[in-house]
Amino acid sequence: MTLPEDFVWGTSTAAYQIEGGWNADGKKPSIWDVFSHTPGKILNGDNGDIACDHYNRLAEDLDIISGVAPNYRFSFSWPRILDENGHVLPRGADFYNRLIDGLAARGVIPWATVFHWDLPQYLQDRGGWQNRDSAGWLADFSLRLMDLFGDRVCNWMIFNEPNVHAWFGHCNGIHAPGIKGTDTYLRAAHNINRAIGCAYRAMKSARPRHTVGSTYQVVDIRPSTPGTSARAVQTMDAIWNANFLDPLFRGAYPEIMAGGFAPYIQDGDMDMIKTDLDFIGVQHYNPIYIADNDQWPFGVFFGDVPAGIPKTGYGWPILPGAFKDTLIEFHQRYNHPSLLITENGAAYLDEVDADGKCRDAWRIDYLNDHIGAVAGAMAAGVPVKGYFVWSLFDNFEWADGYKYRFGLVHVDYKTGKRTRKDSYDWYGTVARENKLTKAA
Ligand code: FCB
Repeated sequence: MTLPEDFVWGTSTAAYQIEGGWNADGKKPSIWDVFSHTPGKILNGDNGDIACDHYNRLAEDLDIISGVAPNYRFSFSWPRILDENGHVLPRGADFYNRLIDGLAARGVIPWATVFHWDLPQYLQDRGGWQNRDSAGWLADFSLRLMDLFGDRVCNWMIFNEPNVHAWFGHCNGIHAPGIKGTDTYLRAAHNINRAIGCAYRAMKSARPRHTVGSTYQVVDIRPSTPGTSARAVQTMDAIWNANFLDPLFRGAYPEIMAGGFAPYIQDGDMDMIKTDLDFIGVQHYNPIYIADNDQWPFGVFFGDVPAGIPKTGYGWPILPGAFKDTLIEFHQRYNHPSLLITENGAAYLDEVDADGKCRDAWRIDYLNDHIGAVAGAMAAGVPVKGYFVWSLFDNFEWADGYKYRFGLVHVDYKTGKRTRKDSYDWYGTVARENKLTKAA
């Protein structure tokens, strides 16, 4: 199976998950520093204080980045770059200068995420995404990034997965900032939607020729048992997909949530939110099985994956055919001319063998079949322009800490040693030859 010559192949990471250096060189705390330092929030009491120590191992990591694919997606840590008075923290900013210049020196094209969940705690102290001013905060930060780095970075993703940040962070409290509730969710989700529209307009007026998109999870919501209610499925579909995609594309919230959002909508908001982004970053791992559950806000939560469906080491279902169908359905529903798969991948409990190799045939199978699904969707007319694996390195997987490993590169968290897994070499060949080597 061959992909178009200009297909964008890349790998993907996020600041808090790999950088470490949590208080280095004047960096301010983020909500993830505060949350992960709170006992009981993260599996095994892990935190991102050191993570992959990418902050201190940049030179080695640049060679790893450039050794596999010609595009690299990373995120900026807001509290590493700006202090509470809006002043640039020069040594933090310089880290990104070295990253970006190092990529350029190696011929790698940067794709920068403005916000991947690590809000400065000083903004959370002012209400975070529940404060309507947050739309302006994000737009201002985006412009500061363009001032600092826009001479060398011209591909941007504004916000990583608003659905996950709103639901896990402001509804069920599993992620930072750890807030539980329905009103808190609705307010945060609406302000995040406003923030994306606001940042897009600011960025395009500052640098009209730059490519500015944002990333969304696009996922099929399925009942975990025949008894699961249609209301639960529709509610989770809104929480996961439609509360963000409908307003973006259509300027309206889905019917099942419209009444909930109504008190938070002010004049002009929906016009600000409806935005023709330059591309949509589609992030997909698997369909999600859900169940009615009164213990959680909105009465819905994850359910069991039905028996017989294969799973990754992390327990997520492996259903590549569903990825193809979801892409086709997404295209039919919203019809955006430019999609990039900005995250897709699988976690296992990878280990390095005595001979120094990390044999992750299961990840190769997963990636092969899911890239094959993308190619299948493209053959059916879906305009996918590229694919970024999640993730380049094993890293801090939020509330699940370091146990499960998503990387093409194994990281020994005790010594910092990096080991390229078999999937690193496999993916490098796919990216270079522009074709899948195994039948999907
Ligand atoms: C996505 C996140 C990313 C990573 C993967 C596994 O929801 O954007 O940071 O945690 O899941």
